Amino acid sequence: MWNLFAAGKALVVAILALGMMAVPFSVSLAQEPGPIKAFNVDAKKAELGKRLFFDERLSGNATISCATCHIPEKAFADGLALSKAYPGLDGFRNTPTLINTALKAAWFHDGRLGTNLNDVTREVITEAYIMNMDMRLMQERLKQDPIYVKMFKEAGYGEPDNSAVRKAIPEYLKSLTSRGAPFDKGSMSNAAKKGFELFKGKAGCIACHSGSRFSDDKPHNLGVPDNPDIWSNPQRHLTFVAYAMSMGIENHMNIRHDPGAHLRAHKADGTDVGKFMTPTLRELKYTAPYMHNGMLKTLKDVVAFYDKGGGEGANKDSLLKPLALSAQEQSDLVAFLNALSGDLLTGAKYVWEDKIDTDYSAIPNFRKTPN
Ligand code: HEC
Ligand code: HEC
Repeated sequence: MWNLFAAGKALVVAILALGMMAVPFSVSLAQEPGPIKAFNVDAKKAELGKRLFFDERLSGNATISCATCHIPEKAFADGLALSKAYPGLDGFRNTPTLINTALKAAWFHDGRLGTNLNDVTREVITEAYIMNMDMRLMQERLKQDPIYVKMFKEAGYGEPDNSAVRKAIPEYLKSLTSRGAPFDKGSMSNAAKKGFELFKGKAGCIACHSGSRFSDDKPHNLGVPDNPDIWSNPQRHLTFVAYAMSMGIENHMNIRHDPGAHLRAHKADGTDVGKFMTPTLRELKYTAPYMHNGMLKTLKDVVAFYDKGGGEGANKDSLLKPLALSAQEQSDLVAFLNALSGDLLTGAKYVWEDKIDTDYSAIPNFRKTPN
């Protein structure tokens, strides 16, 4: 089963990789930290996208939805070190937040998709270890639900079809932007203010965590240790091997590390091995544990990691040096990082719900927060 899966995937991935290589990592437009600018969102399209996001019928065996892993009360991450996967498998990467994801220049921890969210949506739906869905089947399922027929029409898409799904879900994702963080409201504590000075100065964080999302949208190697669970848990290892094989990684049966951005660029000198995309620093309060493989449990651990100059590794970024921060300075930096998260609730609703209302009726087994 894996061979078949891999052969088909290899072709698709090869074609994708060709397309991606032509697109260089673009530089974040706004380098200065500041509030996130909200998008203009088409309400009808986003309502449809939201219903699709919570609908298990988008997965092959109709048992998982996007929200199985991207859980609203965890800022659309999942609280796990390594993600779940399609039933029978397990994931090998940490689930990223989807807040502000529409502003990214490249997606996934290795930055393997540098085009747009339309392509990312197709990738997660069809990827065998995520939703494992044949989009032709998905289209037929959607046509059987009169609520979808109505919603696709009202959103201006006509009949339910694949390309409309690939547009409607990103329209919903565009509605998920950070707001109300103490940093944006000018209500940071003194400790957080001191932390911000360290962030821009002595600690040098801003060299990579720049712009309003605090990310340069580039991959770097920090020497984060590998997560041994990927190799000791057969379900995770199987998923990792199939993925590495389909991405053209040599020796995929034997390697015991995640090659990161090397999957995308395949640099002959290997200097891209172990590089991962700089993540946003917004909404960190809700998205522990941290890093592409969940190896650091708390923000205190992350700051202590940087204070030591990062981890081990031949290709480690030369920007990382021991910082010699005092305990007080480390706790100020943590206070600053916490000031980049907004409140999750406004009254009885999640902040993210305020903008987009949708009709969840008639979705089989509907549960918004899966257990
Ligand atoms: C089984 C868990 C799971 C499900 C289901 C899932 N995702 Fe994800 N998602 C992940 C993980 C893990 C990653 C990171 C993968 C990587 O880096 O290789 C990810 C990455 C993403 C990204 C890129 C984020 C970034 O910062 O680069 C987007 C966007 C996304 N998912 C949207 C969706 C949508 C939309 C759906 C439903 C159609 C969905 N996901 C379903 C686990 C899941
Ligand atoms: C050389 C570029 C670089 C510098 C300098 C840097 N970071 Fe990072 N940061 C990254 C990258 C890349 C990752 C993701 C690594 C991974 O996934 O393995 C990351 C991850 C993080 C995370 C985890 C976020 C998450 O969602 O998992 C936090 C928190 C963080 N950095 C804070 C800081 C702080 C605080 C400083 C300064 C002390 C700093 N960073 C300096 C590039 C950098």
